[in-house]
Amino acid sequence: MNELIKAIKELKQEKNAIILAHYYQEGEIQDIADYVGDSLALAQWAAKTEADIIVMCGVHFMGETAKVLCPDKKVLVPDMAAGCSLADSCPADKFGQFVKEHPGYTVISYVNTTAAVKAVTDVVVTSTNARQIVESFPEDEKIIFGPDRNLGNYINSITHRQMLLWDGACHVHEQFSVEKIVELKQQYPEALVLAHPECKGALLKLADVVGSTAALLKYAVAHPEHTYIVATESGILHEMQKKCPQTLFIPAPPNDSTCACNECSFMRLNTMQKLYDCLKNESPEITVDPAIAEKAVRPIQRMLDISAKLGL
Ligand code: 13P
Ligand code: SF4
Repeated sequence: MNELIKAIKELKQEKNAIILAHYYQEGEIQDIADYVGDSLALAQWAAKTEADIIVMCGVHFMGETAKVLCPDKKVLVPDMAAGCSLADSCPADKFGQFVKEHPGYTVISYVNTTAAVKAVTDVVVTSTNARQIVESFPEDEKIIFGPDRNLGNYINSITHRQMLLWDGACHVHEQFSVEKIVELKQQYPEALVLAHPECKGALLKLADVVGSTAALLKYAVAHPEHTYIVATESGILHEMQKKCPQTLFIPAPPNDSTCACNECSFMRLNTMQKLYDCLKNESPEITVDPAIAEKAVRPIQRMLDISAKLGL
C-alpha cells in the first residue's frame, strides 16, 4: 500500500492534478485526498482549483458538477460505474415533463442529479444549503423540489413551505432501521442520534441533530463529549473518529442486516488501485454534452454565489 500511496502522490504532482474526496469514500482515499468534504465543498473546491486535472473520488454526479464548472479541465473518476440511486430516481425526460406541466414554478434541484436535470433547474442545492436557499425565496413562491422526497419533506417541515416534491430517494439512507436505533438508544441512553436529511421522516423525528455530512461532523467536533449514533453512510465515521479520537461513534444499522446497506455500494466502487490507474491513464474521464453544460452551469453557479453570500 505504501508503494501505491507514493505512486499516486508522484503522478498527482507530475500531472498537476488535485484529488477531491467525499466523506463516503474509503478511509485510505480520504487520507490521500487534497480535500475531503461534502457535496457543496467538493463543488466549491472544483470551481476554484488551478489544477489541470480534477480526480473526483465520489460518484458520477459529483464529477459532472465539477466538469460543468470547469469545462476546460480534465475531470476523472476512478470508477465510471459509481452512480447514485437518488440521481437515478429522477430521469431527465420525466423530470423535464413534470416541470413543463407546472408552469410558473421555480425549480430547485438537489445536487444529486444528472447534468440534464440541472439543465431544467433554476437553482441547485445541497443538504448544507437547502434550507437557506429555499428560504431566500418569498414564502408564497411556487416551488418544485427534486428529487429527494425525504429532504424535501424535511425542508417543507422546517420552513413551513409546501413545495411540490419529486418522489425520489437514496437507497442507503432509506435503509436505516428506526427499531434498531431505538434499541441502540436503550443500550446507550446518553447517545445522540445524528441523521442526514435523506433519511426517512420517522428517523428524522427521533434524531437529535439533522444535517449534511459536513454539519454532522461539525456538531460532533464541537461536542466530542457525547456518544453518537450516526445515521448516514458509514464512511463519515473515518473523519469523525480522526477528529474526535476519544468519542464513541456507532454506525446506525440498516433494516436488512444481511447486507452492509449503510455503505453506499456506488461510492465504495472507488479503490486506491483505481485511483492510481485513472491518474496514470487519465481515464475514465467525465464528459458532458456542451449544450447541457451551458444550461446546467447557471443553477450550479447560482448556488455557489448564494452560498458565498451566506458564508457557507
Ligand atoms: P452531502 O455530501 O451533501 O452531505 O450529501 C450526502 C450524499 O448522499 C452525497 O451523495
Ligand atoms: Fe447517492 Fe445515496 Fe450513495 Fe449518496 S449515499 S451517492 S445519495 S446512493
